[in-house]
Amino acid sequence: MKMRFLDTLLAVTSLVSCASAFYPYCPPYRTLEDGQCIAPSDSLKATRDEVSGIASFKISQRRPQVEISHDEQMRRSVNRLIRKYDHSSQVRDVARNSIEERGAATNTYAIQTAATPAQTNSAGIDQDGTDFSYFAQVQFGSADTPLYMLLDTGASTTWVMGPSCGSAACKGHNSFGPGDSTTFQMGTESFYVAYGAGNVSGTLGSDSVSLAGMKFQMTFGIANNTSSDFEYFPIDGILGLSLDKSSTPSFLDTLVSSKAFKSNVFGISLNRASDGGNTGEINFGAPDTSKFTGTLSYTPVSSNGAGDWAIPLANVGFGSNQAGITGKLAYIDTGTSFIFCPPDQAAAFYAIVPGAKIASTGATDTYSVPCDTTTALTFTFGTTTYSVSPKDWISSSVNGVCTGNVFGRTIVPDAWLLGDTFLKNVYAVFDVDQTRVGRSCSSNCCYITLYYC
Ligand SMILES: *[C@@H]1O[C@H](CO)[C@@H](O)[C@H](O)[C@H]1NC(C)=O
Ligand SMILES: *[C@@H]1O[C@H](CO)[C@@H](O)[C@H](O)[C@H]1NC(C)=O
Ligand SMILES: *[C@@H]1O[C@H](CO)[C@@H](O)[C@H](O)[C@H]1NC(C)=O
Repeated sequence: MKMRFLDTLLAVTSLVSCASAFYPYCPPYRTLEDGQCIAPSDSLKATRDEVSGIASFKISQRRPQVEISHDEQMRRSVNRLIRKYDHSSQVRDVARNSIEERGAATNTYAIQTAATPAQTNSAGIDQDGTDFSYFAQVQFGSADTPLYMLLDTGASTTWVMGPSCGSAACKGHNSFGPGDSTTFQMGTESFYVAYGAGNVSGTLGSDSVSLAGMKFQMTFGIANNTSSDFEYFPIDGILGLSLDKSSTPSFLDTLVSSKAFKSNVFGISLNRASDGGNTGEINFGAPDTSKFTGTLSYTPVSSNGAGDWAIPLANVGFGSNQAGITGKLAYIDTGTSFIFCPPDQAAAFYAIVPGAKIASTGATDTYSVPCDTTTALTFTFGTTTYSVSPKDWISSSVNGVCTGNVFGRTIVPDAWLLGDTFLKNVYAVFDVDQTRVGRSCSSNCCYITLYYC
């Protein structure tokens, strides 16, 4: 999104961006007294079953290069909300935990591995088993070193954790750097990305990047420092999939200039852990028509979105009742777990949900809703309305209380951030093509296409 020029860094940094990703919000219903952010009982049970091999879907345990304590791993594996679009540096959630090193242990991040997609130029989208973060395996360099990369339609910078990175977050993850590839070229320019409440810095390098049967030569960041926010996620880096332009070509810029595809589009289908086997996937070049039914509807990306996948939201509803929330922008963001909107708009939405009550206020307003609510949350774009299942927009019961996953918190002024809670209910197609004409999207220039699943 907006570039924030940091005087002290500008002189030495070729790529300075304020992509504002990584917003580590842990909803109260996941927060234990000691500050750990765990999944509510239902999904926790699912995770336990997977670990003991009982559940039907496949989950693998991943061992990081440097072993870290069980408690810390637990915290990381579940407390991984992306802090994104937070332009306001004053608004910060306090880091919930100071990280203590407790010596060697053997625990690992839980990964629910996706099935291999049938369609060409596609990759499975893995997740953590609690619908909290979605990522894919991407191979880097001559040895095809696999790293888990967060798929992030909300940022354009791609970076990986580098071997000399000494932050606690890096120590718990796999890395990629000069020693891992005979084709790696270290650059001389540095990069720095300021996220909402954290940051990453390092040096730009270039090498091959393989994903979904594609292999591109690309420049990306090799992080030598990260803030602690990245400890909570299983990811080793971020694959930026937004349209935002900078001096370094993004993954989408590289894809377009490769001319590998007639249509520069990608489609995303996110799995819901409680549905069983993970069939989530990302498809490049063409949507996977087996993933959706119904009509295709186009919504042009807003020119106000500044390189983000942001589209005009026509209304928000509870079943057939509309909340009268009109003329707002919705940022479609695979890197954010939940749904965020300004507090007054959250209040307007929950006002039409029978029995909803404000549960906590402060940095983020949360609402409880009756656990037996079976009505969908709806979003209307143009004249098409999409439903979000109560499975997704209402949390599991914790001590008899269910929480709405629409949170009152302004991340982009006057706009909605529709994360995975929404995306699990649609097949989303992101059409990059028209961005060729300029450095940023103007209206009628790029499209996001959303299909009913
Ligand atoms: C990376 O950071 C470590 C300390 O955290 C430092 O010793 C090393 O020189 C740095 N490397 C680069 C390339 O900046
Ligand atoms: C980077 O993020 C950390 C943690 O959020 C913050 O304390 C620090 O001031 C940030 N550094 C810069 C240069 O913005
Ligand atoms: C690494 O980043 C953190 C958070 O941004 C900062 O506090 C720390 O000073 C940095 N460390 C180095 C070695 O630059």
